[in-house]
Amino acid sequence: MARHLITSAIPYINGIKHLGNLVGSQLPADLFARYQRGRGHEVMFLCATDEHGTPAELAAAKAGKPVAEYCAEMHETQAEIARGFRLSFDHFGRSSSPQNHRLTQHFAARLDAAGLIEERVETQIYSKTDGRYLPDRYIEGTCPNCGFESARGDQCDNCTKQLDPVDLIEPRSVISGSTDLEPRETKHLYLKQSGMRGQLQEWIDSKGDWPILTTSIAKKWLNDGDGLQDRGITRDLDWGIPVKKGEADWPGMEGKVFYVWFDAPIEYIACAQEWVDAGKGEDWERWWRTDKGADDVRYTQFMGKDNVPFHTLSFPATILGSGEPWKLVDYIKSFNYLNYDGGQFSTSRGRGVFMDQALEVLPADYWRWWLLSHAPESSDAEFTWENFQQSVNKDLADVLGNFVSRVTKFCRSKFGEEVPEGGAYGEREEALIADLERRLRAYEGHMDAIEVRKAAMELRGIWVAGNEYLQDAAPWASFKTEPETAAMQIRLALNLIRFYAVLSAPFIPDASAQLMEAMKTEDDAWPGDVAQALASLPAGHGFTVPEVTFRKITDEEREDWQARFAGKRD
Ligand code: MF3
Ligand code: ZN
Repeated sequence: MARHLITSAIPYINGIKHLGNLVGSQLPADLFARYQRGRGHEVMFLCATDEHGTPAELAAAKAGKPVAEYCAEMHETQAEIARGFRLSFDHFGRSSSPQNHRLTQHFAARLDAAGLIEERVETQIYSKTDGRYLPDRYIEGTCPNCGFESARGDQCDNCTKQLDPVDLIEPRSVISGSTDLEPRETKHLYLKQSGMRGQLQEWIDSKGDWPILTTSIAKKWLNDGDGLQDRGITRDLDWGIPVKKGEADWPGMEGKVFYVWFDAPIEYIACAQEWVDAGKGEDWERWWRTDKGADDVRYTQFMGKDNVPFHTLSFPATILGSGEPWKLVDYIKSFNYLNYDGGQFSTSRGRGVFMDQALEVLPADYWRWWLLSHAPESSDAEFTWENFQQSVNKDLADVLGNFVSRVTKFCRSKFGEEVPEGGAYGEREEALIADLERRLRAYEGHMDAIEVRKAAMELRGIWVAGNEYLQDAAPWASFKTEPETAAMQIRLALNLIRFYAVLSAPFIPDASAQLMEAMKTEDDAWPGDVAQALASLPAGHGFTVPEVTFRKITDEEREDWQARFAGKRD
């Protein structure tokens, strides 16, 4: 039995995520976690909310709530929606947890002791009206290069020139609009990661099996002059993890907090401590400390491509720099973007389908199937309602759902609600079994390699093979002249339903559970030998005809939804 540690990039606390966010990290991570559990391996699957930073503060202010209260509520909301999508986290933590406070402060102390922290005094823009320092992107003004009036402090969106807030003409606060801004000196901590280039390069070079998307981004940042600059790990904000050296005060850093991107990945580790403190398990260090048993853990991370630099450079720099035996990631699966109906998903404009809305429209499995079978792996992908309708109606309703319904209803009417006996398999059955054997091994190969689309297509192929067999064997015809043969065919087909339930569970867990229940079985063992797996339900074993497993999406619904999600979120 292998041990798999699996983490999904932790979603920002401010607001409900859209389907593009979901398919870029949490959903494929869940697929992999369910698959590895299904194969009988030990899994620790962790996720959390990413709660610090200016966006969280501003969202709370907009909601008219203290930020801690806002975060607690949004955490519950996100947890509820995650349950709705059947995301099977072993723990869904919070980056604002006391555990993460302690661990983040601990890492800072270790990095300092290793001589990797430098204090720097820098000039930043302070807004007297807002009573706070403004991060670069919260300052707007006229671009000195092209005259665009809404250039941001870090970049002009019109001419793309990289800017410094002091370059802007007539700068103003994005938060209040105030122009009463002044440069002030403030002290911050920098992590001297530029000196770790060699170590990081060597580590990344040793990962020859990583997806191209991951390594190409990592290498670009590593070799690009800007990529591995020393980075500021503190901010002048109220909300966040107070800057401390372990448990001790950090002289001169009073009132400051760690930068959100410093503490967020550390939450991957703290989350395991939260899991223990929540009474869900005993020992978190055997997942995270190579001196305490984690050396035989395989650690896989899931994330969108914009997160890759933080996971291939910054977080490893924190871990390596600590000089402690923390588990480093073994494999990073990254994703491109999912677009929405001819444009982008937009959180600010409410364009596209958000996780809560998706579940109001259809159950989780419909979305899980479409999203995973269209995961943006080799390139960006696009959600359209036509494509969604087609995939659901064909793959789920016509292929899988229809198979289940035909087989169970036919059996009930001809043989009753028990698996019939019938004779021995013939050539057609042997051929089907051989085909399934090949397909099953291919499916496992794709799942092991986290080739999500290929795995989905192979699974669909496995469903289709059963359908074609049924069509070909036509028990409804053979029943009239050779009832024994029809009985054998149906015995095989009923067993195929259980076989499908087991293999499909990582993609469509609810449908899988429904089929297991209808087949009145708890035998969810992953098939080794296909012939053997298809003998799980013996003659005489009872079953029931399930309710419709997947229904079709009508043209009218499709048009309705297309209109409803085109514009502003209500
Ligand atoms: N909240 C970030 C995002 O949604 C991801 C943080 S991942 C972590 O892009 F590693 F920092 F935790
Ligand atoms: Zn410009």
